[in-house]
Amino acid sequence: MPLSNKSVLITGGAGFIGSNAVDKLLDSGNKVIVYDNLSGGRYDLIAKHDTNPNFKFVRGDLLDIETLKGALKSEEVDTVFHMAANPEVNLGRSNTRVDLEQGTIATHNLLEAMRICDVNDILFTSSSAVYGLADVKPTPETYGNLKPISMYGASKLASEGLITSFSYLFDMNHYIFRFANVVGRNPTHGIVKLMIDKLRDNRDELYVLGTGIQNKSYVDVDDIVDSMLFVYDKGRHNDTFNISTDDRVTVDYIVRRIVDKAAKGCKIRYSGSHEELKGDIADTHIFNEKIKSLGFKFRYTSREAIDRAIDSYLNTTRITREIEYGKQVNLS
Ligand SMILES: NC(=O)c1ccc[n+]([C@@H]2O[C@H](COP(=O)([O-])OP(=O)(O)OC[C@H]3O[C@@H](n4cnc5c(N)ncnc54)[C@H](O)[C@@H]3O)[C@@H](O)[C@H]2O)c1
Repeated sequence: MPLSNKSVLITGGAGFIGSNAVDKLLDSGNKVIVYDNLSGGRYDLIAKHDTNPNFKFVRGDLLDIETLKGALKSEEVDTVFHMAANPEVNLGRSNTRVDLEQGTIATHNLLEAMRICDVNDILFTSSSAVYGLADVKPTPETYGNLKPISMYGASKLASEGLITSFSYLFDMNHYIFRFANVVGRNPTHGIVKLMIDKLRDNRDELYVLGTGIQNKSYVDVDDIVDSMLFVYDKGRHNDTFNISTDDRVTVDYIVRRIVDKAAKGCKIRYSGSHEELKGDIADTHIFNEKIKSLGFKFRYTSREAIDRAIDSYLNTTRITREIEYGKQVNLS
């Protein structure tokens, strides 16, 4: 059954993926409540819905269970898209509690609030990070033994375990999505945003951590949101899906593409070591056959997704800068 005419709460709805989900869920006739503490997200990404009577924003923290219960109850929520988390894998090296709190405990709070308020449907944005250094590639959903190599991956795996357990014990329906890297409109972080922001400060040399050979799949955020709605519509509850394109690209490919579009001639300098990125899975490829076998079609390859993300960020930053400074700033 298509997700329509429901009351949907999106944790992290002011973030990158969340704000894109808000647009689509409102378009398909749902009432949408964004629950976000704005630690990483931005209100301006969803502000265009301000006057829509089907849209509500609650500035709240998942660690504050009373406010959370209040939002679930007062808005008579049917379905939760759980997207709030720390999205930065690297942060867990300098702060080993952040993923425990913003990922695992936050997820427990949400599930507990849902149990108390009798809300039964949860869609969860997990990650390919749960697979760790898998020795089978492309890695299917059935792969084990799962051994994450980052606090971020550990917290996603713990959250998945909490979700399947609450779901079993209290008759909830869950839908788990293990995303590859996501790129596209409204970025709050990620390689495309980071590199373009750096180029703004220095157009002569672009310094990049690592060696450039990391090889990964990049999924357009439109495909990400569509895949979640597709699985929900198919009624595939209590199941887990990898979400990844068929192809992969290297970091060096992306950086060159950005330089090509935004600052031709700029010199690229790599740190030359993967040590600063320890915990990031440099060579990852997850198998996408399960969702494709249900009939889902990815609209964009990794290469296309990267191009769209670069173009979109260059365009929006130009517009933002125009508004900020009252003049056109052209990066290309
Ligand atoms: N972007 C990717 O490449 C990618 C890949 C795999 C999985 N994911 C997952 O998808 C989800 C969304 O990621 P994103 O890229 O949109 O990140 P994002 O940082 O843009 O969005 C996360 C949102 O959660 C909010 N938030 C964080 N902690 C909170 C808390 N305690 N209470 C309330 N709100 C809180 C932030 O303010 C932010 O708006 C995350 O769970 C992330 O781990 C992202």
